[in-house]
Amino acid sequence: MRDEQTQQIAQQIQTIKALAKQRNAIILAHNYQPPEIQDLADLCGDSLELSRKAAQTDAEVIVFCGVHFMAETASILSPHKKVLLPRLDAGCLMADMITAEALAHKIQSLPPMPVVTYVNSTADVKALSTVCCTSANVVQVVNSLSADEMLLTPDRNLAMYAASRTGKKIHIWEGYCPTHEWLTPEDVANARAAHPGAVFLAHPECRPEILQLADVIASTSGMLRHVAQAREREFIIGTEQGIIHPLRKANPDKHFYPASKKMICKNMKKIALDDVQRCLENLSNEVKVPESIRVPALKAVELMITLRV
Ligand code: 13P
Ligand code: SF4
Repeated sequence: MRDEQTQQIAQQIQTIKALAKQRNAIILAHNYQPPEIQDLADLCGDSLELSRKAAQTDAEVIVFCGVHFMAETASILSPHKKVLLPRLDAGCLMADMITAEALAHKIQSLPPMPVVTYVNSTADVKALSTVCCTSANVVQVVNSLSADEMLLTPDRNLAMYAASRTGKKIHIWEGYCPTHEWLTPEDVANARAAHPGAVFLAHPECRPEILQLADVIASTSGMLRHVAQAREREFIIGTEQGIIHPLRKANPDKHFYPASKKMICKNMKKIALDDVQRCLENLSNEVKVPESIRVPALKAVELMITLRV
């Protein structure tokens, strides 16, 4: 039964790849996507890598296997390409914790200062921001600004992490990623007790008390890089469980344990092979950011990219 299923998946992947070729489409997948979607993709990566790739590709169609804000970022960078999100209902709970209206209000209540916005945000929030950042480059982006005081939205954990690493005064927005927020020090203690000697890697979206316990703090691609060159063989993974698939693929001799079984983002698990096939067949599920928002949002995203951090 298992073999039959594996064969079916392999066949469908071949069908979708042929369809993508026909459509001159590139398939991108975030590191949290289900294994078969990552295996299908032309490129897997973190938010920063994927947004760069989306900007560079010659493909006419980008199929973004991720969540809505990622497809929007691709549309911001590539207005002449068709950007498809195989499940339009794949949102981000953290991105939904801020609106452009609420941000405009906050900006008015503060003295003039730069607004740094995590890419995990909607296009209209980016449009009100000075510069974007990702979890991989937040410290460098904050350090690249001449200002010593700024607002960082929407992730309070990322903001506190950046403040602790840069010494700058950072105003926080009370947003968070539930998948990371729910990881507790008890979960970490239990995982360490079950796997003594394993290296604990935590994503900067985790709470400060978790980051204090971490051996390594890294974005998803940072984790992949760290593990590849590490001499240790066992790792406790403090981020969404999807990352364990590429970690195992790239390091078959190493062992990976989720820091908590709760670390699953439902939105990241919505896309199935059928959804990718359907949207390529029909060129449906387009995400397009209107010009009035795209142009100011592009400024913030481009500034991050041109900083080369
Ligand atoms: P990165 O891949 O940039 O580390 O992002 C984490 C995340 O939560 C994406 O939704
Ligand atoms: Fe959003 Fe968190 Fe899911 Fe990433 S893991 S898409 S930040 S809810």
